[in-house]
Amino acid sequence: MAEKIIILGSEGQVGTDLAAKLRSEYGDSNVLCTDIKHADSSKTDLGPYQELNVMDRNALKDVFSKHKPTMVYHLAAMLSATAEQFPRKGWDLNMEGMFSVFDACLDHDVKRVFWPSSIAVFGPTTPKENTPQHCVMDPNTIYGISKLAGERFCDYYFNRYGLDVRSIRYPGLIGWKALPGGGTTDYAVDIFHKALQDNKYTCFLKSDTSLPMMYMDDAIKGTIDITEAPAEEIKIRSSYNISGVSFDPETLANAIEKEMPGFTIDYDIDHRQKIADSWPSSINDDEAHSDWNWKPEFDLEAMVKEMLTRLSQ
Ligand code: SER
Repeated sequence: MAEKIIILGSEGQVGTDLAAKLRSEYGDSNVLCTDIKHADSSKTDLGPYQELNVMDRNALKDVFSKHKPTMVYHLAAMLSATAEQFPRKGWDLNMEGMFSVFDACLDHDVKRVFWPSSIAVFGPTTPKENTPQHCVMDPNTIYGISKLAGERFCDYYFNRYGLDVRSIRYPGLIGWKALPGGGTTDYAVDIFHKALQDNKYTCFLKSDTSLPMMYMDDAIKGTIDITEAPAEEIKIRSSYNISGVSFDPETLANAIEKEMPGFTIDYDIDHRQKIADSWPSSINDDEAHSDWNWKPEFDLEAMVKEMLTRLSQ
Protein backbone atom coordinates (compact mmCIF):
# COMPACT_ATOMS: atom_id res chain seq x y z
CA MET A 1 0.00 0.00 0.00
CA ALA A 2 1.29 3.44 -0.89
CA GLU A 3 2.18 5.64 2.05
CA LYS A 4 -0.03 8.65 2.74
CA ILE A 5 1.69 11.29 4.80
CA ILE A 6 0.46 14.30 6.75
CA ILE A 7 2.86 16.96 7.99
CA LEU A 8 1.51 19.15 10.79
CA GLY A 9 3.44 22.42 10.99
CA SER A 10 4.73 22.20 7.43
CA GLU A 11 5.49 25.93 7.17
CA GLY A 12 8.04 25.95 9.97
CA GLN A 13 11.81 25.60 9.76
CA VAL A 14 11.84 21.78 9.78
CA GLY A 15 8.51 21.35 7.98
CA THR A 16 9.66 23.29 4.92
CA ASP A 17 12.67 21.05 4.32
CA LEU A 18 10.88 17.86 5.36
CA ALA A 19 7.96 18.49 2.99
CA ALA A 20 10.29 18.95 0.03
CA LYS A 21 12.16 15.75 0.81
CA LEU A 22 9.08 13.61 1.49
CA ARG A 23 7.34 14.88 -1.63
CA SER A 24 10.33 13.95 -3.75
CA GLU A 25 10.34 10.49 -2.16
CA TYR A 26 6.62 9.71 -2.08
CA GLY A 27 5.11 11.97 -4.75
CA ASP A 28 3.48 15.36 -4.25
CA SER A 29 -0.08 14.09 -3.95
CA ASN A 30 0.81 11.61 -1.19
CA VAL A 31 2.12 14.29 1.18
CA LEU A 32 -0.44 16.65 2.65
CA CYS A 33 1.11 19.76 4.19
CA THR A 34 -0.80 21.52 6.95
CA ASP A 35 -0.08 24.54 9.10
CA ILE A 36 -1.96 27.12 11.13
CA LYS A 37 -0.54 29.71 8.73
CA HIS A 38 -2.15 30.74 5.52
CA ALA A 39 0.21 29.66 2.75
CA ASP A 40 0.46 31.62 -0.49
CA SER A 41 0.33 30.08 -3.94
CA SER A 42 4.11 29.69 -4.10
CA LYS A 43 3.59 27.00 -1.44
CA THR A 44 0.18 25.60 -2.31
CA ASP A 45 1.20 25.10 -5.94
CA LEU A 46 3.82 22.61 -4.78
CA GLY A 47 1.28 20.04 -3.58
CA PRO A 48 -1.78 19.57 -1.38
CA TYR A 49 -2.02 22.11 1.44
CA GLN A 50 -4.57 22.63 4.15
CA GLU A 51 -4.78 25.31 6.83
CA LEU A 52 -5.09 23.43 10.12
CA ASN A 53 -4.82 24.17 13.84
CA VAL A 54 -3.59 21.05 15.69
CA MET A 55 -5.57 22.14 18.76
CA ASP A 56 -8.83 21.73 16.82
CA ARG A 57 -9.70 18.08 17.30
CA ASN A 58 -12.69 18.20 14.96
CA ALA A 59 -10.68 19.72 12.15
CA LEU A 60 -7.96 17.11 12.70
CA LYS A 61 -10.56 14.37 12.52
CA ASP A 62 -11.88 15.70 9.20
CA VAL A 63 -8.42 15.94 7.68
CA PHE A 64 -7.41 12.47 8.89
CA SER A 65 -10.70 10.93 7.66
CA LYS A 66 -10.24 12.48 4.26
CA HIS A 67 -6.53 11.92 3.71
CA LYS A 68 -6.24 8.56 5.57
CA PRO A 69 -2.59 8.97 6.57
CA THR A 70 -0.32 6.01 7.18
CA MET A 71 2.41 8.28 8.60
CA VAL A 72 2.18 11.57 10.44
CA TYR A 73 4.94 14.08 11.21
CA HIS A 74 3.79 16.39 14.00
CA LEU A 75 6.04 19.45 14.01
CA ALA A 76 3.72 22.19 15.26
CA ALA A 77 5.13 23.63 18.49
CA MET A 78 6.28 26.81 20.20
CA LEU A 79 10.06 27.08 20.59
CA SER A 80 12.06 28.00 23.67
CA ALA A 81 12.36 31.79 23.56
CA THR A 82 8.73 32.43 22.52
CA ALA A 83 7.42 29.96 25.09
CA GLU A 84 9.24 31.91 27.83
CA GLN A 85 7.26 34.96 26.74
CA PHE A 86 3.96 33.08 26.68
CA PRO A 87 4.44 30.19 29.13
CA ARG A 88 0.83 29.06 29.37
CA LYS A 89 0.27 29.27 25.62
CA GLY A 90 3.52 27.39 24.99
CA TRP A 91 2.55 24.62 27.39
CA ASP A 92 -0.96 24.34 25.92
CA LEU A 93 0.17 24.21 22.30
CA ASN A 94 3.03 21.81 22.93
CA MET A 95 1.08 19.41 25.17
CA GLU A 96 -2.53 19.63 24.02
CA GLY A 97 -1.38 19.75 20.39
CA MET A 98 0.52 16.52 20.99
CA PHE A 99 -2.42 14.79 22.68
CA SER A 100 -4.87 15.72 19.96
CA VAL A 101 -2.52 14.48 17.25
CA PHE A 102 -1.66 11.23 19.06
CA ASP A 103 -5.36 10.57 19.73
CA ALA A 104 -6.26 11.25 16.10
CA CYS A 105 -3.50 8.82 15.08
CA LEU A 106 -4.96 6.12 17.34
CA ASP A 107 -8.50 6.76 16.08
CA HIS A 108 -7.41 6.51 12.44
CA ASP A 109 -4.96 3.58 12.77
CA VAL A 110 -1.98 5.63 11.70
CA LYS A 111 0.97 3.28 11.35
CA ARG A 112 3.70 5.65 12.52
CA VAL A 113 4.05 9.09 14.04
CA PHE A 114 7.12 11.29 14.30
CA TRP A 115 7.27 13.77 17.18
CA PRO A 116 10.36 15.93 17.74
CA SER A 117 11.94 16.42 21.11
CA SER A 118 14.88 18.72 21.76
CA ILE A 119 18.14 19.22 23.65
CA ALA A 120 15.96 21.54 25.76
CA VAL A 121 14.90 18.47 27.78
CA PHE A 122 18.23 18.79 29.58
CA GLY A 123 18.86 21.27 32.37
CA PRO A 124 21.46 22.94 34.56
CA THR A 125 22.53 19.80 36.45
CA THR A 126 22.64 17.57 33.37
CA PRO A 127 26.25 16.64 32.44
CA LYS A 128 27.20 19.39 29.97
CA GLU A 129 29.74 17.65 27.77
CA ASN A 130 28.96 14.55 25.74
CA THR A 131 25.53 14.43 27.44
CA PRO A 132 24.44 10.80 27.66
CA GLN A 133 21.09 9.41 26.54
CA HIS A 134 20.12 8.61 30.13
CA CYS A 135 21.04 11.15 32.80
CA VAL A 136 19.64 13.83 35.10
CA MET A 137 17.07 15.89 33.23
CA ASP A 138 15.89 19.03 34.96
CA PRO A 139 14.76 21.45 32.22
CA ASN A 140 13.91 24.92 33.50
CA THR A 141 12.21 26.37 30.42
CA ILE A 142 8.56 25.81 29.52
CA TYR A 143 9.67 24.46 26.15
CA GLY A 144 12.04 21.97 27.79
CA ILE A 145 9.48 20.92 30.39
CA SER A 146 6.87 20.35 27.67
CA LYS A 147 9.36 18.34 25.59
CA LEU A 148 10.39 16.16 28.54
CA ALA A 149 6.75 15.52 29.45
CA GLY A 150 6.06 14.84 25.77
CA GLU A 151 8.84 12.26 25.67
CA ARG A 152 7.29 10.44 28.61
CA PHE A 153 3.96 10.42 26.74
CA CYS A 154 5.60 9.02 23.59
CA ASP A 155 6.79 6.11 25.70
CA TYR A 156 3.41 5.85 27.42
CA TYR A 157 1.34 5.88 24.21
CA PHE A 158 3.61 3.22 22.76
CA ASN A 159 3.43 0.90 25.77
CA ARG A 160 -0.18 1.55 26.73
CA TYR A 161 -1.89 1.93 23.34
CA GLY A 162 0.64 0.54 20.87
CA LEU A 163 1.03 3.86 19.04
CA ASP A 164 4.31 3.62 17.12
CA VAL A 165 5.79 7.04 17.90
CA ARG A 166 9.38 7.79 16.86
CA SER A 167 11.30 10.72 18.28
CA ILE A 168 14.69 12.42 18.26
CA ARG A 169 16.06 15.25 20.38
CA TYR A 170 16.87 17.94 17.82
CA PRO A 171 19.84 20.15 18.51
CA GLY A 172 19.85 23.69 17.06
CA LEU A 173 19.02 23.30 13.36
CA ILE A 174 20.66 25.27 10.59
CA GLY A 175 19.15 25.42 7.14
CA TRP A 176 18.71 27.89 4.31
CA LYS A 177 15.19 27.14 3.06
CA ALA A 178 13.25 28.61 5.98
CA LEU A 179 13.97 30.80 8.96
CA PRO A 180 13.56 29.43 12.46
CA GLY A 181 11.26 31.35 14.77
CA GLY A 182 11.47 31.95 18.48
CA GLY A 183 14.35 29.63 19.33
CA THR A 184 17.54 30.17 21.30
CA THR A 185 19.74 28.56 18.67
CA ASP A 186 18.33 30.84 15.93
CA TYR A 187 21.48 32.98 15.97
CA ALA A 188 23.28 30.24 14.04
CA VAL A 189 20.91 30.80 11.11
CA ASP A 190 20.58 34.61 11.41
CA ILE A 191 24.34 34.99 11.30
CA PHE A 192 24.50 33.68 7.70
CA HIS A 193 21.80 36.05 6.48
CA LYS A 194 23.50 39.04 8.15
CA ALA A 195 26.93 37.94 6.92
CA LEU A 196 25.70 38.07 3.32
CA GLN A 197 23.79 41.32 3.82
CA ASP A 198 26.19 43.38 5.95
CA ASN A 199 29.31 41.26 6.45
CA LYS A 200 28.76 41.64 10.20
CA TYR A 201 26.54 40.21 12.91
CA THR A 202 25.48 41.15 16.42
CA CYS A 203 24.99 37.99 18.45
CA PHE A 204 22.59 37.65 21.40
CA LEU A 205 24.63 34.83 22.98
CA LYS A 206 28.11 35.11 24.48
CA SER A 207 31.08 34.28 22.28
CA ASP A 208 31.92 31.07 24.17
CA THR A 209 28.41 29.60 24.49
CA SER A 210 28.87 26.20 22.93
CA LEU A 211 25.67 24.40 21.89
CA PRO A 212 24.83 21.23 19.97
CA MET A 213 23.85 22.08 16.38
CA MET A 214 23.10 20.28 13.14
CA TYR A 215 22.82 21.05 9.45
CA MET A 216 19.25 20.67 8.24
CA ASP A 217 19.99 17.94 5.67
CA ASP A 218 21.30 15.74 8.48
CA ALA A 219 18.26 16.49 10.64
CA ILE A 220 15.88 15.61 7.81
CA LYS A 221 17.79 12.42 7.11
CA GLY A 222 17.60 11.46 10.80
CA THR A 223 13.90 12.30 10.94
CA ILE A 224 13.01 10.16 7.94
CA ASP A 225 15.44 7.37 8.84
CA ILE A 226 14.05 6.89 12.34
CA THR A 227 10.45 7.08 11.13
CA GLU A 228 11.07 4.49 8.42
CA ALA A 229 13.26 2.15 10.49
CA PRO A 230 11.87 -1.31 11.29
CA ALA A 231 10.00 -1.15 14.61
CA GLU A 232 12.31 -3.63 16.32
CA GLU A 233 15.28 -1.29 15.82
CA ILE A 234 13.62 1.43 17.88
CA LYS A 235 14.52 0.39 21.39
CA ILE A 236 14.13 3.80 23.00
CA ARG A 237 10.51 4.86 22.93
CA SER A 238 10.92 8.24 24.58
CA SER A 239 13.38 10.08 22.31
CA TYR A 240 16.90 9.55 20.97
CA ASN A 241 19.90 11.81 21.45
CA ILE A 242 21.39 12.73 18.08
CA SER A 243 24.51 14.77 17.59
CA GLY A 244 25.83 16.79 14.65
CA VAL A 245 28.37 19.50 15.41
CA SER A 246 28.99 21.60 18.51
CA PHE A 247 30.35 25.12 18.35
CA ASP A 248 30.12 28.55 19.96
CA PRO A 249 29.38 31.85 18.20
CA GLU A 250 33.05 32.80 17.99
CA THR A 251 34.00 29.52 16.31
CA LEU A 252 31.14 29.86 13.85
CA ALA A 253 32.11 33.47 13.12
CA ASN A 254 35.72 32.37 12.45
CA ALA A 255 34.51 29.69 10.05
CA ILE A 256 32.39 32.27 8.20
CA GLU A 257 35.27 34.74 8.15
CA LYS A 258 37.40 32.14 6.36
CA GLU A 259 34.88 32.15 3.52
CA MET A 260 34.05 35.86 3.73
CA PRO A 261 37.18 37.83 4.67
CA GLY A 262 36.31 40.92 6.67
CA PHE A 263 33.27 39.40 8.36
CA THR A 264 33.00 40.60 11.97
CA ILE A 265 30.88 39.68 14.97
CA ASP A 266 30.01 41.63 18.10
CA TYR A 267 27.83 40.78 21.04
CA ASP A 268 24.69 42.18 22.65
CA ILE A 269 23.58 39.53 25.13
CA ASP A 270 19.88 39.14 25.92
CA HIS A 271 17.47 36.89 27.89
CA ARG A 272 18.21 33.93 25.63
CA GLN A 273 21.65 33.55 27.23
CA LYS A 274 20.03 32.11 30.35
CA ILE A 275 18.24 29.48 28.29
CA ALA A 276 21.41 28.56 26.41
CA ASP A 277 23.35 28.29 29.69
CA SER A 278 20.95 25.60 30.91
CA TRP A 279 21.55 23.36 27.87
CA PRO A 280 24.36 20.89 27.08
CA SER A 281 27.28 21.84 24.88
CA SER A 282 27.66 18.47 23.20
CA ILE A 283 25.61 15.29 22.92
CA ASN A 284 26.44 11.60 23.01
CA ASP A 285 24.39 9.70 20.44
CA ASP A 286 25.78 6.15 20.73
CA GLU A 287 22.29 4.62 21.07
CA ALA A 288 20.94 6.23 17.89
CA HIS A 289 24.08 5.14 16.10
CA SER A 290 23.88 1.50 17.20
CA ASP A 291 20.07 1.06 17.15
CA TRP A 292 19.10 2.61 13.79
CA ASN A 293 22.42 3.50 12.26
CA TRP A 294 22.35 7.29 12.74
CA LYS A 295 25.32 9.11 11.27
CA PRO A 296 25.54 12.83 10.39
CA GLU A 297 27.41 13.96 7.29
CA PHE A 298 28.05 17.66 7.76
CA ASP A 299 30.85 19.09 9.86
CA LEU A 300 31.18 22.81 10.62
CA GLU A 301 33.20 23.64 7.53
CA ALA A 302 30.88 21.77 5.13
CA MET A 303 27.84 23.38 6.72
CA VAL A 304 29.24 26.92 6.48
CA LYS A 305 30.19 26.45 2.81
CA GLU A 306 26.77 25.01 1.96
CA MET A 307 24.85 27.74 3.81
CA LEU A 308 26.78 30.57 2.16
CA THR A 309 26.53 29.04 -1.30
CA ARG A 310 22.81 28.28 -1.08
CA LEU A 311 21.83 31.61 0.47
CA SER A 312 23.78 33.64 -2.04
CA GLN A 313 22.15 31.84 -5.00
N1 SER B 1 16.20 25.12 18.51
C1 SER B 1 15.37 25.02 19.67
C2 SER B 1 15.28 26.31 20.39
O1 SER B 1 16.24 27.04 20.35
C3 SER B 1 15.86 23.96 20.60
O2 SER B 1 15.31 22.74 20.25
O3 SER B 1 14.30 26.58 21.02
